Amino acid sequence: GVSHRIHPSILNADLARLDDEIRRIPSADGVHLDVMDNHFVPNLTIGLPVIESIRAAHPDRFLDIHLMITDADRFAPAYAELGCESVTFHIEASDAPIRTARTLRGLGSKAAVGLRPQTPIEPLADFITEFDMVLIMTVDPGFGGQSFLADMLPKIRRTREIVARTGQDIWIQVDGGVAESTLDQCIDAGANVFVAGSAVFRAEDPDAMVRGLAAQAGA
Ligand code: DX5
Ligand code: ZN
Repeated sequence: GVSHRIHPSILNADLARLDDEIRRIPSADGVHLDVMDNHFVPNLTIGLPVIESIRAAHPDRFLDIHLMITDADRFAPAYAELGCESVTFHIEASDAPIRTARTLRGLGSKAAVGLRPQTPIEPLADFITEFDMVLIMTVDPGFGGQSFLADMLPKIRRTREIVARTGQDIWIQVDGGVAESTLDQCIDAGANVFVAGSAVFRAEDPDAMVRGLAAQAGA
């Protein structure tokens, strides 16, 4: 069967205490780090130097880098060179997604592709095996705390069908508005990697929320 993973996003954590915040979620399967450049999205977060420090402070965590930046082909490989386990770049920001995916894999990282809500999955079907994960955005990227777009469920389903045809274990990640109230729909549609930002870091006990989501997913 498909294995489920919970990857909290630190976007809604206390960024002045990032190291402590990451230590508050020991049960998480991965730490989802949102890199924004104020061009691909109207928000600016952290970049390579901060990720490098997180890598050094947390050598045993699975770092899931979500690049919301333009010129992905140029900037994505540096995150793999730091030793991040997974690097997601957006298809809308890439002129050479196959080459970039192969570069990421060559550097030892999982290669992942992200899709904005309005971007269809079908054009990627013929080269989906170049990727280890597909990130389906379930909000417009840029900010935490937005409402889950249930209109994305058919796209998650189609992605699961495309992945199933390959016979390969390509992960399907959902990001945006994922919480206890929306998790079941995502699972039912075929997602298996769940990013939750505000649901986890606005909870009184973030790690209890991570464990709760994992139990709900049947992990
Ligand atoms: C939004 C980011 C998300 C964000 C999710 O553009 O990619 O990872 O942190 O936050 P929630 O879970 O609050 O929607
Ligand atoms: Zn994200």
